[in-house]
Amino acid sequence: MNFASDNWAGATEAVMAAVTRHNGGFAPGYGGDPLTKAVNQRFAEIFEREVEVFFVGTGTAANALSMAAAGRPGGLVFASTEAHLQNDEFGATEFYTGGMKIVPVRSDAGLMDAAALSASIVRYGGRFGLPTVLSLTNATECGTVYEPAAVAELTAVGKSHGLVCHMDGARFANGVAALGVSPAEVTWKAGIDILSFGGTKNGCMAAEAIVVFEPGRFPNLTALRQRAGHTQSKARFIAAQFEGYFENGGWLQTARHANAMAARLTAGLSGKVRLGWQSTANEVFPVLPKATIARLRDAGARFYEWPAEGLGLDEDLIRLVTSFATSGDEVERFLALV
Ligand SMILES: Cc1ncc(COP(=O)(O)O)c(C=O)c1O
Repeated sequence: MNFASDNWAGATEAVMAAVTRHNGGFAPGYGGDPLTKAVNQRFAEIFEREVEVFFVGTGTAANALSMAAAGRPGGLVFASTEAHLQNDEFGATEFYTGGMKIVPVRSDAGLMDAAALSASIVRYGGRFGLPTVLSLTNATECGTVYEPAAVAELTAVGKSHGLVCHMDGARFANGVAALGVSPAEVTWKAGIDILSFGGTKNGCMAAEAIVVFEPGRFPNLTALRQRAGHTQSKARFIAAQFEGYFENGGWLQTARHANAMAARLTAGLSGKVRLGWQSTANEVFPVLPKATIARLRDAGARFYEWPAEGLGLDEDLIRLVTSFATSGDEVERFLALV
């Protein structure tokens, strides 16, 4: 009953097989290999346009280097109050950008709305710094998703103030699977300029990529990545992970499975316990009595508490994360214990 995080799961067989398949012989380093070129082409097919792809080792690096590429001295990044780059990255954005400031924008279950964004830009722009980047997470840190229309509305506000529009897609596959839209519809067609594309949480070992939708738009990115130590020497192994990840549409099948397991948790908990909010990707947030939480842990369940307001003294909000490796049996055992 492991609901701690999707990064507690291993890698899929398809990913491991691809890494093994490409292990033989010699290939140029630093992305000069034919496999990296072929996988970049796969990204172009998936996004239905020419793209520029920069492999990195972590989601934090993808976010922080995206911010650095789009950044400028005195720049402001607008992101939701729940944004991973605001709360969980130990100042990586601030560090890699030479001190850009993140402005947290009021959000509901991880989703910001256009009015709140607009108000923040007007309120802080020019006084705190120079409005520079909008960062949206999809699927969000709360397991909720932005529909393409919501992304388009927010990026329209951002662009009217000259912002570069970024999407943190650490759980991009879960978002796309939950929405049932194409990767293009929820990104560049909705105004996204640069995407942190996650593979690790959904079945890779360590494979993340920065996807730039207008090649050449961020000419410093190559140097920024090198300087940050994220230009992979044996890039072919990141490419191999993505090859295995995309094979036969597997990346969306694993995401659909994770989402379905989360939906089963939601269905089993609804009406019995309070949910912090409704989520449709691979994270569920029930409020449980502390005694129940202790009992679940004693029975071997793994999960984390999540910060929340408005709770009673004897209860906590917990986060349950599902993955490609979550089984229906685990879900049923957890529900029976609750
Ligand atoms: C929404 C989001 N963005 C970025 C990251 C960062 O990924 P990493 O831990 O690989 O740096 C995470 C990781 O939990 C995340 O949940």
